[in-house]
Amino acid sequence: MNPLESLTRLDPDYPRPAVLNLLAAPHNERLLEYVANDPFGAHVFPGDIPDVAPEAFLDDLDAQLADTRPIHLWSYIPTCSYRCRFCQYPVVIVKGPADVTREKIDHWVDLNIREAQLWLQRVPRLREAPVGEFNVFGGTPSLMGLDSVSRLLNFYRENFGFGPETTVRFEGDPTTLTPDLLARLRELGCDKVSCGVQSFDDQVLKLSGREHTETECHEFLDATERLGFDWVTIDLMYGLLDQTVAGVQRDLEQVRRHRVPGVVCTKLHLRSYTDTRTGVAGDRPAAWQFPSYRNRLAEAGHRWPTLGEQYQMREVLAEGLRADGYGEHPTMYFHRADKPPETWKSIMVDQDRQDAEVAIGLGGSSSCRRSEAMTEVNAGRYAQLVQAGQLPLTSATRFGPTATEARAIKMALSTLQPLRDDLHRERFGGRSLFDEPWNRRWLDLERRELVVTDRAEGSVRLTAPGAVLVEAIMNTEF
Ligand SMILES: C[S@@+](CC[C@H](N)C(=O)[O-])C[C@H]1O[C@@H](n2cnc3c(N)ncnc32)[C@H](O)[C@@H]1O
Ligand code: SF4
Repeated sequence: MNPLESLTRLDPDYPRPAVLNLLAAPHNERLLEYVANDPFGAHVFPGDIPDVAPEAFLDDLDAQLADTRPIHLWSYIPTCSYRCRFCQYPVVIVKGPADVTREKIDHWVDLNIREAQLWLQRVPRLREAPVGEFNVFGGTPSLMGLDSVSRLLNFYRENFGFGPETTVRFEGDPTTLTPDLLARLRELGCDKVSCGVQSFDDQVLKLSGREHTETECHEFLDATERLGFDWVTIDLMYGLLDQTVAGVQRDLEQVRRHRVPGVVCTKLHLRSYTDTRTGVAGDRPAAWQFPSYRNRLAEAGHRWPTLGEQYQMREVLAEGLRADGYGEHPTMYFHRADKPPETWKSIMVDQDRQDAEVAIGLGGSSSCRRSEAMTEVNAGRYAQLVQAGQLPLTSATRFGPTATEARAIKMALSTLQPLRDDLHRERFGGRSLFDEPWNRRWLDLERRELVVTDRAEGSVRLTAPGAVLVEAIMNTEF
């Protein structure tokens, strides 16, 4: 099916997506091509100078930390007890009797702490830099035993710039974020939890290779409410095998039922992050990344949602959450009306921040204002490097002067907040958002009804369809 056909094939029971005409217009062919190829573009913002030595990134980072606002620090624990068919993140599967799996997970906690010590030696300013938010991401960190959780959190708290303002989050899945673990996390001063729910439809979960059901998702949400967790976010995906627009509508009802404070909605993306360096992929592709496997599933009677249906699903989620007062900041990160936007995302992409991010663990991605770097994704090589006392960064890119400006604009666009010329001028030595080469881009985007500029006020904002297509705009127009 070609992109236009896929875009126009809709579920007749749901409204036509608002972006459909715009995407079908010949002058937006590049945007359609971008979204049809399903690249994903708002996590890593790579530079234009490739193959820079990781050492250069570490020097840039150290220099920036001399005088910094709070940074985003994260620790990545790659262990999972099952491998989802859509997931291309670097994960290490641990299965078997409890004592064996515990030992394997502890090994990854040890490696993470060892790597963090190497960072502190190489970038000494990291010890003092204020941490705005500390996240334990994965993989599935919630597989850790309670002792390892304490060991990891205490290590970071004692060795990095944690203060009263630092928020701490722990990530997991519904099978392992148990009431016991949640209670321990509360004791350890962890204020936030994130859980991969993906869908509340058991059949969709099963086909995706998830080893939990809807029931466990509700149990997790009930437990967080009981324990008084203030900030709980869940991940939902759309575009999954056999998922329907009605199914996504039902997912939305479950979010409403629990009044979930934060919801991250992601379209299934299967193109490798490595193609675009917009994320970090592990060294083994996800099962669904093989076209032959996807085709076999379709031949066996399963159904992949069309592009048009994916936009209907997105609209159901986004419009439904908006109607309930949720804000969206950045793209597809929704926060309940009484909650602020995600701290770590704001640290990274808000126009007045765009501060450093340091990732410790297999397949991490770190950045500062001059460069960004990625960590080894092969588990064996990663462990060897760390055990040999070497920081396991494997590649880095730097930003030339125009790319630095473009990156700042792209990040700011991804927040969906209006871009301000005064902030741009302040950061770029008086250069305006309306200087070339940006001015002609805004004129073109304005003609295509994707942005609105107010030159008197000095601002640029995305239109409603521009906001839906922001990743495509950022990655094809800048
Ligand atoms: C790396 S996982 C960590 C959470 C936890 N392991 C879990 O899955 O429950 C973070 C989130 O990435 C999202 N994700 C993973 N693979 C994806 C893909 N191919 N397309 C879209 N989202 C994806 C899922 O929503 C997942 O919850
Ligand atoms: S989506 Fe989560 S649980 Fe599934 S393989 Fe990826 S990291 Fe592991």
